[in-house]
Amino acid sequence: MAERVIPLYDQRNPRAPALPIPRSVALAASDGPLLDRLQRPLRDLRISVTDRCNFRCSYCMPKEVFGKDYPYLPHADLLTFEEITRLARLFLAQGVRKIRLTGGEPLLRKDVERLVEMLAGLRTVDGMPPELTLTTNGSLLKRKARALRDAGLQRVTVSLDALDDAVFQRMNDVGFPVAQVLDGIAAAQDAGLAPIKVNMVVKRGTNDDQIVPMARHFRGSGIALRFIEYMDVGSSNGWCMDEVLPSAQVLARLQQTFALVPLQPSSPGETAERWGYAGADGRHDPALGEVGFISSVTQAFCRDCNRARLSTEGRLYLCLFAEQGYDLRAPLRSGASDTEITASLAAIWSQRADRYSEIRALLPPETRRAARRIEMSYIGG
Ligand code: GTP
Ligand code: 5AD
Ligand code: SF4
Ligand code: SF4
Repeated sequence: MAERVIPLYDQRNPRAPALPIPRSVALAASDGPLLDRLQRPLRDLRISVTDRCNFRCSYCMPKEVFGKDYPYLPHADLLTFEEITRLARLFLAQGVRKIRLTGGEPLLRKDVERLVEMLAGLRTVDGMPPELTLTTNGSLLKRKARALRDAGLQRVTVSLDALDDAVFQRMNDVGFPVAQVLDGIAAAQDAGLAPIKVNMVVKRGTNDDQIVPMARHFRGSGIALRFIEYMDVGSSNGWCMDEVLPSAQVLARLQQTFALVPLQPSSPGETAERWGYAGADGRHDPALGEVGFISSVTQAFCRDCNRARLSTEGRLYLCLFAEQGYDLRAPLRSGASDTEITASLAAIWSQRADRYSEIRALLPPETRRAARRIEMSYIGG
């Protein structure tokens, strides 16, 4: 067993200054889409609305680090709903089409449905409503699904790592029962928040015995189950490669029980590789549904990465593995105009070259370990 080192480092410490916003941008084709240095457009904006969570998943917010004295952001530091909506509007004007609310646990943010309603009123450059979705641990979904749907949320993704209660409770580390998450999923289905996806982070030796039971449970339910390789995100989860079960092995295990056929990606830059359950004729049977594999460790998907992340306090991060972000709250609160903020967004995106998962393997292990990466609870999945 590898030794566990849990470095304590808080990105919100003033010693982690924000990156300077680049001043000018060479807009090669100002009427074309905004592209980064690797020619990737900006399509997906993930907004973290709280850094708090009622779970303590060891791969994300381990208890040793996120104890009862953990200094969460004070309320005044969080972007207000009005600030978030203003930024989202400016991002949409730059080509964003999908907005995902994340956390921590986004349903812990008071009145989050009011934010959903405000965001649902925005439009993309094509005049369409943005695709509006949310990632949740499901614990409050039973109570909130209907209100979220009424506010204009289109779909949800629910995290669930096991069907077995003992395994799940050990993983969420607060003794939260599986049944209540399943109730939340059912409430989301009843409310019409579709299509629902379920995300399962697979840790070898912890929940890999749940792969087949989870697949069996969701097969034919209209819900896509996605298996996620345990990632070295953040600086506190004590990640080591021994605990990663490569997606190829997850697929092989599934194929011992189910017939699966590969499916085409549904959109460019998609995180998951999709496989469909086959019917008796050997072809994909849509009634049986599909599974997905998110393999950022063994098969990086940075090449088409079109995702930007806005932290709870308004810092813009260009990669899940970034160490620093750009402070957008300062200009928001010091009276910057829409034009000025838009120019900053364009300048920031156009100089982006992040591709951490692709270069991870090339980094010396000391560099990887020493990195002061942001926590996923602060920036969202
Ligand atoms: P859908 O549109 O619902 O398919 O969303 P998605 O797959 O883009 O998003 P989701 O938030 O469900 O992502 C699932 C998981 O994939 C996250 O929780 C992360 O573990 C991982 N993930 C998402 N985006 C990235 C990314 O840009 N880089 C890496 N390395 N992992 C990511
Ligand atoms: N590895 C992979 N996925 C993670 N998530 C959080 N931490 C990790 C990690 N270390 C993702 C999971 C979870 C979502 C909220 O964040 O997909 O469902
Ligand atoms: Fe909370 Fe999700 Fe992180 Fe688990 S993975 S601690 S549910 S934010
Ligand atoms: Fe995008 Fe960074 Fe993830 Fe690569 S590692 S897919 S660049 S967020």
